[in-house]
Amino acid sequence: MNSKIFLSPPHMSGKELDYIKEVFESNYIAPVGEFIERFEQSICDFTKAKYTCAVVNGTSAIHLALRILGIKNGDKVLASTFTFIGSITPILFQNAEPVFIDSDESWNIDPGLVEEAAKKEKPKALIVTHLYGQMAKIEDLLFLSRKYGFYLIEDAAEALGATYKKKHAGTFGDFGIYSFNGNKIITTSSGGMLVSSNGEWIRQARFLSTQAKENYPWYEHETFGYNYRMSNVLAAIGVAQMEVLEERVKRKREIFDIYKRELGDIADFMPEIENSRGNRWLTTLIFKDKNPLKVSETLKKHNIESRPLWKPMHTQPVFRNAKAYINGASEALFKKGLCLPSGTALKDEQIIEICRIIRKG
Ligand SMILES: Cc1ncc(COP(=O)(O)O)c(C=O)c1O
Repeated sequence: MNSKIFLSPPHMSGKELDYIKEVFESNYIAPVGEFIERFEQSICDFTKAKYTCAVVNGTSAIHLALRILGIKNGDKVLASTFTFIGSITPILFQNAEPVFIDSDESWNIDPGLVEEAAKKEKPKALIVTHLYGQMAKIEDLLFLSRKYGFYLIEDAAEALGATYKKKHAGTFGDFGIYSFNGNKIITTSSGGMLVSSNGEWIRQARFLSTQAKENYPWYEHETFGYNYRMSNVLAAIGVAQMEVLEERVKRKREIFDIYKRELGDIADFMPEIENSRGNRWLTTLIFKDKNPLKVSETLKKHNIESRPLWKPMHTQPVFRNAKAYINGASEALFKKGLCLPSGTALKDEQIIEICRIIRKG
């Protein structure tokens, strides 16, 4: 193929430049302004989250959640091992200790192992990733968080638009977070959102994300904060992107269906738990016989990007000393799996052509 096919490139709605122009005309080219509020409101309207705080990225949103929940030096935080490192580094920012939990047949975190770890480790919190936009077993996790008294943070960085029993990913736990990084289902180039049904916590998030300035005529600080607030320029992109989010979810799901139809005999695809609707951010599969690295090489020769599944955190050198509750599931997935191009601007014919190349590879 001539022009490169990326894994999940930005897909603009067409309104972004109009809204950015409005920002420039108002001269609110800063981390304050009307579009930040509009973007936050659009997330509330779509997900039914009660309160939101727009920030610079998903990682900073998780960091704020941990800080506000009082996670500190020596506290243990359970987290999905089968995830991206941005889900985990905020635990280190707070000098707390990550304890990694393996996946089950859903590919997402295994509630049985969470319970085992909760009994032994007495964690303060759990960060659950809704992997590749597919819902984790959120009802079981909520139950465990209440039973064992730990906070629940939903890393829905990849899962905006996913639902369980029609309730949105990110709105079940104490906090939820979304990412608007360039590869996500909608993007603001980089950006993130913290959501909660606790208004006081979100008030604190706004305060901490703008350097913890007290209400004085001069800069007065009783504690320290961060420079984490989203820019009004990027929020304008976000408002335009939210207008097409539902369309994007539909297209991601169609793309998944085409891959499954074309490759269902040679691969198994990431499942969707009962009563849920994933956003199918990336179509991911595990090959029955093929070597995913070889397939990826073949695709690369045709100028097509693909990528192995996340390498589990407990196998990363940086976490060699971390505690982990492991059953082998995520390591097996990593060995056999691949993420396929899932950009919403892809044409059906292009996907079919990609499948043809995969069969050969
Ligand atoms: C599961 C997961 N968590 C956290 C992040 C971090 O988000 P960001 O890149 O916006 O900081 C990402 C994506 O980048 C992610 O995929």
